[in-house]
Amino acid sequence: MKKYTYAELRELYINFFQDKSHQKLSSFPLVPKDDESLLLINAGMAPLKKYFTGAAKPPSKRITTYQKCIRTGDIDSVGRTARHCTFFEMLGNFSFGDYFKKEAIDYAWEFLTKVIEIPLEKLYVSVYIEDNEAFDCWINNTGITKDRIFKMGKDENFWEIGVGPCGPCSEIFYSFTDEKIENKEQFIEFQESGKIFEIWNLVFTQFNKNENGEYETLKNKNIDTGMGLERLALITQNVDNVFDTDIFVKIIDKIRKLSNVKNISQEVNYSLKVIADHSRSITFLVCDGVTPSNEGRGYVLRRLIRRSVRHAKLIGIESKFINDISNVVIDEYKCAYPELEERKEYIRNIVEVEEDNFSKTLNKGMDILLNSYVKELETLNSNVLSGDKVFKLYDTYGFPLELTQEILKERNISVDIDGFNIEMKNQQKKARESRKSDNYLGNELGVLNSTKNYETEFVGYEKLKIKSKIMDMIFENSFVDEMKSGETGFIIFDKTPFYPEMGGQIGDTGYIKSSDGYGKVLTTKKNLQGQIYHVVEVVEGKICGKTRDIELVVDESRRRSICRNHTATHLLQKALKMVLGDHVKQSGSYLDDQKLRFDFTHFKALTKNELEEVEKIVNECIYNQVNVKTEIMDIKSAQEVGAIALFDEKYEDKVRVLFVGDFSIEFCGGTHVSNTGFIGNFVILNETSVSSGVRRIEATTGSNVFNLFKESRSVLNNISHQVKATSQIDILNKVENLIADIKNKNLEISNLKSKMANAKLKVLDHIIKNSKIKNGIKVITNVFDELDVNQLRDACTMVRDKLDCGIVMFASVVNDRANVVCMANKNAVDQGIDCGKIIREALKFAEGSGGGRKDMAQGSVTNISKIGDAFEKVYEII
Ligand code: ALA
Repeated sequence: MKKYTYAELRELYINFFQDKSHQKLSSFPLVPKDDESLLLINAGMAPLKKYFTGAAKPPSKRITTYQKCIRTGDIDSVGRTARHCTFFEMLGNFSFGDYFKKEAIDYAWEFLTKVIEIPLEKLYVSVYIEDNEAFDCWINNTGITKDRIFKMGKDENFWEIGVGPCGPCSEIFYSFTDEKIENKEQFIEFQESGKIFEIWNLVFTQFNKNENGEYETLKNKNIDTGMGLERLALITQNVDNVFDTDIFVKIIDKIRKLSNVKNISQEVNYSLKVIADHSRSITFLVCDGVTPSNEGRGYVLRRLIRRSVRHAKLIGIESKFINDISNVVIDEYKCAYPELEERKEYIRNIVEVEEDNFSKTLNKGMDILLNSYVKELETLNSNVLSGDKVFKLYDTYGFPLELTQEILKERNISVDIDGFNIEMKNQQKKARESRKSDNYLGNELGVLNSTKNYETEFVGYEKLKIKSKIMDMIFENSFVDEMKSGETGFIIFDKTPFYPEMGGQIGDTGYIKSSDGYGKVLTTKKNLQGQIYHVVEVVEGKICGKTRDIELVVDESRRRSICRNHTATHLLQKALKMVLGDHVKQSGSYLDDQKLRFDFTHFKALTKNELEEVEKIVNECIYNQVNVKTEIMDIKSAQEVGAIALFDEKYEDKVRVLFVGDFSIEFCGGTHVSNTGFIGNFVILNETSVSSGVRRIEATTGSNVFNLFKESRSVLNNISHQVKATSQIDILNKVENLIADIKNKNLEISNLKSKMANAKLKVLDHIIKNSKIKNGIKVITNVFDELDVNQLRDACTMVRDKLDCGIVMFASVVNDRANVVCMANKNAVDQGIDCGKIIREALKFAEGSGGGRKDMAQGSVTNISKIGDAFEKVYEII
């Protein structure tokens, strides 16, 4: 067997299948398109689902790809085992209603034994226990003997992921040992111990599994195969660990240099592998437009980055490092994935910001928070960290749950996952409640996606009102023939002027009308097959499935507002590039009839000047009344004219390109105004941060600007009236005067306060002067009006502190009783004064009581005319 690099293997594979009449498609982005059932592309067939179900026609009946994939289910095993990776490439050949089991098996065998020249005695095969057809193909065509084929059950040899195309499969295994497998038990045992491993899976896709778990037979029998490139590289390079294959060797080498570690212990080795694996996923994910966040794909990415940063710290890498490693990844993969090189700068920026933020958090969070939690657990003699603390680490400090778990595991502490989940659910519930829900899909998604294979035509670029016929109607999870007044369901027509929510543009609303009834279209979307469906609430009569000639009418004024916002979004993107630079790339957008939201890559908040400049450029383009037109072009020509494409998008050969004169040229399927003049006006409402390296601008146009103006005018008029201004300019004068006035008044108040304080001091001085001395102890008494107990205590303290050796007793009359406070300083107490005792005895003379410590006591009396007697008593006691 010859040694092959990754690049050579990709080429050998694709050439082999091209020679067998397969069309090569380049790898699809990792972010699935129009497929809500999947977070990230995890198999070669995933982006081709619509060809398997028959919902779309493939460009060729035979296709071959190498596809970038991510699977993070086994993230904990990465680096611990010889072959787990979060990122991997899947080599695949696919047949859509063309060849079936025989050829799929022949091709695979020929490739492995003739092209790669794997010796026969290194290979074993498994087939689905009921699949005699596949078994016979193996025996009759390949020459592999019966004793190397194992019949397995559904768990092992029936391939499916969630809903979608699936079927029995046959797997090819490579053996690392010369020991011959004797029986099925040993076959399983060898897999578990890693003596053999699966390299290629041939799936005979005959079924489509629907939401209800039913297997529907597909019209076409298809082939879906997948071979892990990393595993093939491992075999041909004659190593027994993927991390020893050519690309990984280079990546790990770089990490080792950065870390400077001398001793490669087992744990260091583990960290090296984790970082090496994650750096590939990180680089590819960011390249395909995923940005770190706290949910979905963004969270997968965040977790990978944060995990890497932590492992880097463990092996002594203190400074930012991911980009240094990313560069190696880019160099190694750019021949197969040229987009990596094109987006290198972008990748660098996104990764750096997240890395930076987390490094700081890690230092803070780890040392301060986590350690204090651990100490607390020690004192409580517990080794489970509570869910709310784990959630706090997650929510406030950005520690992914799994990372907290991992760190704590090293200290033999587990986390309360149930508690964490409860906190998480509560938070999500809160978020849901505060968000207006517009998801009508619910569990009806399954039925909606199991319609027959037909296309719906969108005619809404030109028309907003047409007659059409119903293809399918779905109510409460089943297909129905009619919907009655009060019912809300989904209706699919053969053609429609309603724009389905897509490309960040909200779906159209409006109404439908037939001779039997009338329904409101609440929104419009697309199902998995790409058919346009309308969420309709029947408000009068009924809508019947059989009725032809149903009138469909789009809410025109709302649509016009949407068009204004959409074209303005294109102008905004262009203006941002002009003002900030070419690094500005769309990372998301959403627009409805009220406003537009545009997310883009930029690394700091925009200044007031920049925002004003952007607003000015967009408005100039509006006032210049530039014509807007669209053209369907082949993708090459579109790229040649410099049309801006979306990051994570994979386009068909023909694309729709929107030209705003020559000011902005973008790929776009949305609806637009025909001349920028129709936008009217454009204002930015706010500019905020979405996540590290991504900013968001919200803006609005047309009548919304007018409404905003009206609102502001009414507020201004109100203020103007209140401050009695004579003109708008005068409002400012008046407000400035008011502010100056308040400042002066505040000054006056504080002057008065200090005057009062001085006066108080003078009174107290006077009281002190008039005091008497008994047995060397100064005795000061006084009665005040209307001081509360706190003020009384303050006065006491102030006087006591001025004395050398003395006792103070003050009373304050409030209504028909008096509070009394008594204090003595240290010298007096040393001479035997006891305020508690004095107050107890003295207050009896004024029908009161009290008590306290030697240096301070407190009480009250009810006979205020006798306070003087009580004071006299103090002298006596002393
Ligand atoms: N879709 C099959 C797999 O991923 C080939 O194993």
